[in-house]
Amino acid sequence: MTPDEVPVEHPPRLDNLTLARKEGWQRFVNTPARIPPEPLTRNEIEALGENAFEDYNRQRREWHANLGPIKTPQMKALHEDLWDIVDSNLQDGDKAKGAIAIDAFPGLGKTTSVLAFAKGFHRREIKARGSLTDAGNEHWPVCRVGLTGNTGMVDFNRAMLSFFAHPGVTRGNAAHFAHRALDNVLACSTRVLVIDDLHFLRWHKSSGVEISNHFKYIANEFPVTLIFIGVGLAARGLFSEGSSYEDAVIAQTGRRTTQLDMRPFTIDADDGRHEWRQMLLAIEKRIVLANKQPGMLADDLSDYLFARSTGHIGSLMTLINRGCQRAVRTGTECLTRDLLDQVKNDAASEKGRKELEAAFDARRLTTRIGKRKAG
Ligand SMILES: Nc1ncnc2c1ncn2[C@@H]1O[C@H](COP(=O)(O)OP(=O)(O)OP(=O)(O)O)[C@@H](O)[C@H]1O
Ligand SMILES: [Mg+2]
Repeated sequence: MTPDEVPVEHPPRLDNLTLARKEGWQRFVNTPARIPPEPLTRNEIEALGENAFEDYNRQRREWHANLGPIKTPQMKALHEDLWDIVDSNLQDGDKAKGAIAIDAFPGLGKTTSVLAFAKGFHRREIKARGSLTDAGNEHWPVCRVGLTGNTGMVDFNRAMLSFFAHPGVTRGNAAHFAHRALDNVLACSTRVLVIDDLHFLRWHKSSGVEISNHFKYIANEFPVTLIFIGVGLAARGLFSEGSSYEDAVIAQTGRRTTQLDMRPFTIDADDGRHEWRQMLLAIEKRIVLANKQPGMLADDLSDYLFARSTGHIGSLMTLINRGCQRAVRTGTECLTRDLLDQVKNDAASEKGRKELEAAFDARRLTTRIGKRKAG
């Protein structure tokens, strides 16, 4: 062992145990879509025996807790961009591939959308080229790494190795881990490397160049499209261009990285209001409650849900999920303002809610299509 080759005491801390390893990833990719529980009327529910009733409610709890992913316009637009860039990177040779950074506020569906894309990409590649590579190795078109608080470069490289279940994760330095990761990527024909929550990378001013260089190394040596996901990446200087040497190194990463956005729903114009309505209709279709009425969300609760979620899909889905749990548990079997008023939501949307509700009350805002806001 060389002096910089430290034995590592703890296994890498990974964010999401199910997706941090290739087997978990494969399960995610191959699990068929959930089948919704059968919609029953109130009478039919009342006629169920005790066990059947409990079983029905258990099915609905799980169903409502996993209502996605819904193909939102934001997701569709992001997928189009991702296909353009990833497919244009499938050229042969040693050209550095263009990277992608999805930089947007929390809870806008970045992770959900990229995972849906990566799943589609994985399936397409396996279908086209089989589950083994030409050399007879396992074929893993996608590698996904999620970072957690204060991850350093060594942990990052080890996380890549852990995904491939490489045995060499216990010993070595950042460079050793990176080399082993490259071997895996080449052997398994990996074409897309997703790095989620990049903002968790230890990112002091002095290490900005080191990080930038490392990604440059990956972009140059690994035949993959890097997809970075994070919050405030631009503010951390991932794309900055400046005049100093450090800035120039970082700028090189910036030049090769296409920045993509994920936006919240907005209601200041009819296009946005239309998207909001379509979203509510799509959710409504999926809800399995006996007293559900057409328009329960899209007509009756449209303004209310916008105020409570501030147009953020994460907050909206949390509210709907919790509301459905309550509606099943209490036997209300319907989402109403009274019921949702009792459901707590995340702090950020609660904060935005008061202002929005005041604006709706004063008719300065509306989610109704074709209605002009007053004044
Ligand atoms: N298209 C969608 N359909 C249904 N639910 C969605 C969709 N997109 C996101 N969600 C839900 O919204 C929540 C937040 O989404 P996600 O974790 O993808 O956001 P994020 O932008 O990655 O947030 P963070 O920056 O906090 O990681 C999740 O609970 C997810 O289930
Ligand atoms: Mg995320």
